[in-house]
Amino acid sequence: MTVRFIPHSAIDQKLLIKIIEVKMKSWPYSIEEQLKWIEKNIDDNDVHVLLIDSKDNILAYLNLIEIETTINNVKCLAVGIGNVCAVEKGKGYGSTLIRKTNDYLTENKKTGFLFCNNQLLPFYQALNWEIVPQGSYTIDGIEPKTNVMGFNLRLNIKTMNYHGKIF
Ligand SMILES: CC(C)(COP(=O)(O)OP(=O)(O)OC[C@H]1O[C@@H](n2cnc3c(N)ncnc32)[C@H](O)[C@@H]1OP(=O)(O)O)[C@@H](O)C(=O)NCCC(=O)NCCS
Repeated sequence: MTVRFIPHSAIDQKLLIKIIEVKMKSWPYSIEEQLKWIEKNIDDNDVHVLLIDSKDNILAYLNLIEIETTINNVKCLAVGIGNVCAVEKGKGYGSTLIRKTNDYLTENKKTGFLFCNNQLLPFYQALNWEIVPQGSYTIDGIEPKTNVMGFNLRLNIKTMNYHGKIF
């Protein structure tokens, strides 16, 4: 298995459809709806991360989005991790993909954030992601129900406010 990091600007339509087919196993939106979502939310510099097998089949996928967020009243650049999905669950594909993404974030000295439900907290915690304490963050000015997790957090987050693209 290999992990590829591909900027959106370098993705052709054929590969985009292959990615969408994997995403559709987790989120049942049509190809057209998925294409519209990507067009609206993914910029040319954002990165698609693919775990592939020896025959180039995609086993797991996520995307990395450049985001700006305000932490302890200071604007910071970070990376938003979204659309994490595996073609088959429970085979280690998701954790392999996250481990490689962690390496990428560390090598590039970047902090990552993701949103997830309660059920997935242990999955990400086992992969060294930390929970950002509930009550300390807002998204578009509202305290969301979803959890926020971070990787390579370099400071103690007292407050975090995010206004930006969905990822
Ligand atoms: C979440 C997801 C990417 C995990 O990938 P995966 O390939 O199934 O995970 P792995 O096989 O690497 O599992 C690693 C461990 O996490 C656990 N785990 C995986 N998904 C879990 C879940 N939804 N709830 C609880 N535990 C989970 C596994 O049981 C396994 O534990 P073990 O090592 O003790 O056996 C995958 O289940 C998926 O595609 N889910 C649907 C889409 C989704 O909800 N994405 C999350 C967006 S934040």
